[in-house]
Amino acid sequence: MTMRRKMAAGNWKMNGNSAALSVISELVATHTAKTDTDIVICPPAPLLFRGSESASASPLAIGAQNCHSAASGAYTGDISAPMIADTGATHVIVGHSERRDACGETDSDVRAKTIAAWDAGLTAILCIGESAKDRDAGKTLDIIAAQLSGSVPDHATGDKLVVAYEPIWAIGTGAVATTQQINEVHDFIRKRLVQRLGDDVGNAIRLLYGGSVKPANAAEIFKCDNVDGALVGGASLKAEDFTPIIQALVAS
Ligand code: PGA
Repeated sequence: MTMRRKMAAGNWKMNGNSAALSVISELVATHTAKTDTDIVICPPAPLLFRGSESASASPLAIGAQNCHSAASGAYTGDISAPMIADTGATHVIVGHSERRDACGETDSDVRAKTIAAWDAGLTAILCIGESAKDRDAGKTLDIIAAQLSGSVPDHATGDKLVVAYEPIWAIGTGAVATTQQINEVHDFIRKRLVQRLGDDVGNAIRLLYGGSVKPANAAEIFKCDNVDGALVGGASLKAEDFTPIIQALVAS
């Protein structure tokens, strides 16, 4: 059986200025011991350099929330994966539903960004998830299958790729998916990854659940077999909320 390291990733979205670096310092001070859980904070891009400095020499890793698929060029306002790596960050979120929705990112865009992340030596946290409309229409697994085949590049490995299942209707709403819903989708994702990439790689890729994960519901979610951690939005903005979630994961 493949042993996967667990991962607690915090997605700050467009929240936090330099004052929020104290949250990273607090997490660094609290999580000094080496555990089987990776902790990744994804602050807004202007904080990547200083966040990476604060987290250096600690088990905490820093990630970006998006990257362009090109390494450089005339793309005003964008940042590339090599630029992210240059800040000391080691991870990048790609294909978050807010970007798929507001910025029109397609599966093939997400695939290209993932490859760009790998070329720069970054681990990609690739997000997929269905809308409430898709779920109500009974299309959840079809949508997940399509997103997986369209977004995940062929050369995925457990080191380079983490998949985050985030049902859109559960993001920022307080409406967390039930463990039955989470199990169904996570087991399906695992099966698909194994079918496509083989036993070794398919079982090595970590699967995170995201969508209204809080200290109160984290332990229950982490009991699900194919849940290797969480991608946490709102509850990652304060160390006092994120720390109990990390602790629940370490204890799971
Ligand atoms: P939330 O966000 O935890 O605030 O629901 C999760 C996400 O969008 O990654």
